[in-house]
Amino acid sequence: MEALEALLSRKSTPRLSEPGPDQQQLEILLRAAVRAPDHAALRPWQFIVFEGKGLDDLGQIFSDALARKDPETSEAALEKAKSRPHRAPMIIAVVAKVSEHPKVPVIEQVLSAGSAAQNILLAAHAMGLAGIWRTGDPCFDPYVRERLGASGDDQIVGFLYLGTASAVPPVPELEVSDFLKVWGK
Ligand SMILES: Cc1cc2nc3c(=O)[nH]c(=O)nc-3n(C[C@H](O)[C@H](O)[C@H](O)COP(=O)(O)O)c2cc1C
Repeated sequence: MEALEALLSRKSTPRLSEPGPDQQQLEILLRAAVRAPDHAALRPWQFIVFEGKGLDDLGQIFSDALARKDPETSEAALEKAKSRPHRAPMIIAVVAKVSEHPKVPVIEQVLSAGSAAQNILLAAHAMGLAGIWRTGDPCFDPYVRERLGASGDDQIVGFLYLGTASAVPPVPELEVSDFLKVWGK
């Protein structure tokens, strides 16, 4: 797919099925990710790939996090949390690994990781795959953070659910002038 066509037509897809990205596609996704803008070349990124048993493990982490937060959580809610990662054949967690830098505040490093996440979604779309960026409580949960190796100012910026679209939702028509101010006119 042409770059501009990919940019103009990307759409999040909540319902994803097999196949997920294969090894070659995964490599392209990660190479696209590390082309994210990156002030001072800090490389403030960590990508954690979950597939197969990894998705089971992530579900267990989500479920354990809920149980730790509230021991009264119902069995049904715990099971739901456990099953969440299975909404796609692959998940890539994108973590902003933040370091101290005199010219690059935390926000810029998190934005760089967010740009890496968007590059992954766009590259997936360009290769005929689909995905959706999800966050929710797990991104901010101390236990999930610990299990994924996020400490201090690190931020889990999202879980990218990736796979094949069962049905592609339409791209909404947005009026760009609603978001535009041209200075000086
Ligand atoms: C940082 C971030 C976090 C998001 N978290 C969620 C989420 O937890 N659950 C969800 O359904 N959508 C979430 N979304 C929204 C979807 O990724 C998606 O953008 C939205 O459904 C609109 O679809 P579109 O990207 O095709 O316009 C999030 C988006 C961003 C940028």
